[in-house]
Amino acid sequence: MKRRARPRRAPGFAELAALARIARESAHAPFSGYKVGAALRAKDGQMVTGCNVENATYGLTLCAERVAVFKAVSEGIRGFDAVAVVVDSPKVASPCGPCRQILWEFCGDIWVRMENLKGRGVTRRMSELLPMAFDQGNL
Ligand code: THU
Repeated sequence: MKRRARPRRAPGFAELAALARIARESAHAPFSGYKVGAALRAKDGQMVTGCNVENATYGLTLCAERVAVFKAVSEGIRGFDAVAVVVDSPKVASPCGPCRQILWEFCGDIWVRMENLKGRGVTRRMSELLPMAFDQGNL
């Protein structure tokens, strides 16, 4: 049988989601009131968290996912396999367009676990969230 480069079935996300849940508590969201936590897992097991940080000009707001990616990259951590995104609403948050682009460029086709505080959610691959992505392979 041919060996797959990546497992088809999603790996466990319990620990990653738990970290995202804790990170969410640090969210600075006085304008939307919508707190988001994210946790990014490197292939070597390191996990880096992020939360959304809003701004009075609105446009400078950073989403939890991008904060997690930039924190990891700034600490020299590369090579990721999953990200968890946690919110407190029945409908889970799926990464916004700019975050999808950043996740794709720094993380590639990773697992994306999106869940709420009840642990209900969905799991997708980045390639499902951002098909036909534009990246450095196009340049
Ligand atoms: N937000 C995130 O941090 N991640 C998402 O996946 C969706 C949206 C933030 C941005 C803003 O601070 C608030 O949620 C409302 O849009």
